[in-house]
Amino acid sequence: MKILHISAECYPVAKAGGLGDVVGALPKYLCALGMSSAVILPKYALRWVKEHRFIEDYHGTIRLHDRHLPFTIEREIDDTLGFPLFVANIPDLFERDGIYASPEGYGYDDDVSRWLGFQQAVLQWVAQFWEKPKILHCHDHHTGLIPFMVKYCPEYRALKDLPTILTIHNGAYTGAFSWRHIDKMPLFEAHARNLLDWADTIHPLASAIRCAWRVNTVSPGYLDELKAPDSHLNWLLNNEWHKSSGILNGIDAQVWNPATDPLIAHRFDGDINRFKAANKAAICQRFRLDPELPLVTFIGRLVSEKGADLLPGVIERALENNAKMAFLILGTGDPALKRAFYALRDRFFWHFDASIEYNESLAHQLYAGSDFLIMPSRIEPCGLNQLYAFRYGTIPIVRSVGGLRDTVRDWSEENPRGIRFDHFSTDDALHALYRASLLYHDEQTLTGFRKRIMDLNFSWEKSAEAYIALYKGVSSPL
Ligand code: GLC
Repeated sequence: MKILHISAECYPVAKAGGLGDVVGALPKYLCALGMSSAVILPKYALRWVKEHRFIEDYHGTIRLHDRHLPFTIEREIDDTLGFPLFVANIPDLFERDGIYASPEGYGYDDDVSRWLGFQQAVLQWVAQFWEKPKILHCHDHHTGLIPFMVKYCPEYRALKDLPTILTIHNGAYTGAFSWRHIDKMPLFEAHARNLLDWADTIHPLASAIRCAWRVNTVSPGYLDELKAPDSHLNWLLNNEWHKSSGILNGIDAQVWNPATDPLIAHRFDGDINRFKAANKAAICQRFRLDPELPLVTFIGRLVSEKGADLLPGVIERALENNAKMAFLILGTGDPALKRAFYALRDRFFWHFDASIEYNESLAHQLYAGSDFLIMPSRIEPCGLNQLYAFRYGTIPIVRSVGGLRDTVRDWSEENPRGIRFDHFSTDDALHALYRASLLYHDEQTLTGFRKRIMDLNFSWEKSAEAYIALYKGVSSPL
C-alpha cells in the first residue's frame, strides 16, 4: 500500500456527507491508476460494518490520560470496496450507532477522546509496519493531529520522515478543544507546542495546515475563499501558500450512472426527455406533487452551512405568489427547519413535500426525477450534489460560492450549466427560481441544457491524476 487514507467517513461503510463519498471513491480511482491505496476509519456499530466480516491485523493499547484502552485494527476480509479497508476497533469510543451523533441527533460529548484515540491507534499500527505506506493522507480535522504527531511524538519516531497530506473538505469544522485536555495527547517534544495552538486552543485543523507537507482544499475557489481576509484561516493559509492547492473533487461515475443505476425507476436509454419524464412521474406520484410543474428539489443536510434555512421563506413567498412550481426537500438536521417544512406541506398540497430523513436511494431517484436542484449554500467547499445533478440531467440552481462557482456556469454565460445567484437572500433566490421557470418553459433551451450537462465529465479520473501529481511532489520514487 502506497497511500493510506485516514478518515472519519468512507462510503458505503459510514457516510454523513461528501467526505464519505470522496474517501469511498478516490482510492478506487487511485488504485486503477496504479497508485495502491487503502482506507482506515473507526469501527462504528453501523449496519454495513455489522454485515461484513473482518479479520484482526493488529492489537494494542492506547492511552488517553489515565485511561488505557485496548483496540484492534481489522481488515475487511472480502475487499468489497475494491481496495483494502481497515477499521480501528476501539469499542469504548466508537461502538455506537452513529458517526458524529446518535440517530436521534444527539452529538457525542467525548469527541476529544474519540478522535485523539483514533489517531493514536492508527499511528501505533502504522509504526510497526515492516513496509510502511509512502504517504499518510489525512482528511479533515478528525485526523488533523497526525501530521504533528508523526513529526514530534517520540512514540512514532519510526514515522518521522513519512510525508503527510491534509485535505480540507470543510474548514468550518476545526476540531478545536481546550488545553485542559492536553494530557490525552501522546507525549510530544515540548518545543513543538506552538504548532498545536491556535486562538488559545489545541486546534487540529490549524496544526495540520502547519505541519502537513501539502494541504489542499476540494476546489480551487474554496482555497481562495479561505485565504480571503474574512476567513478564520486566512492567516494560516496565506502563510502556507507555497504548499497549498485546490483540487476539485470528482464523482464516482460507476455509482452515479443513469444508464445502470439500480435505484431509479427508469434508466437512461439515450432519450433524455423520456428519462426525465418517467422518473419525474414516479416521484410526483409518490409525493403527491403536480407533474406538470417544474420540480425543484433540495437534497442535503438541513444545516445553516448548506443554506437550508433560506428555503422555507423562499418557498413560502414563491407559492403565496402562485408560482407555478413544485418543491421537494430530502434531508435531516435542524428540528426547527423540519417543523417549518411540515408546516409548508400542510399549506401547499400538490406544490410542496418533504422527506425528513437520510435516504441514499431516494436521493438517486430525486436526481433522476427533478428538473432543478437548488443549493443555496452559505459555504460550499466543493459540493458533489451539483455534479450528481449534472449526470442525471437535473439543472442546478446554486449560490455563487466555493466549488459551486467553479463548476456551475450561469445561463447568461457561454455553454451554461445552471443558474447562479450571488447573495444569500430571499430576493436573489426567488429571482433565480423565476429564471428557472422561464428556462423550463422554453423547451428547446431546456433540452439543450439537459444534453450539455449530462455530457459533462466530472469523474474522478482527472482529479485522481491531480492527487497523484501531489503525491509525487512529496515522495519519490512512488
Ligand atoms: C464537505 C463539503 C462539500 C464537499 C465534501 C467532499 O461535505 O461541505 O462541499 O463536496 O466535503 O469534499
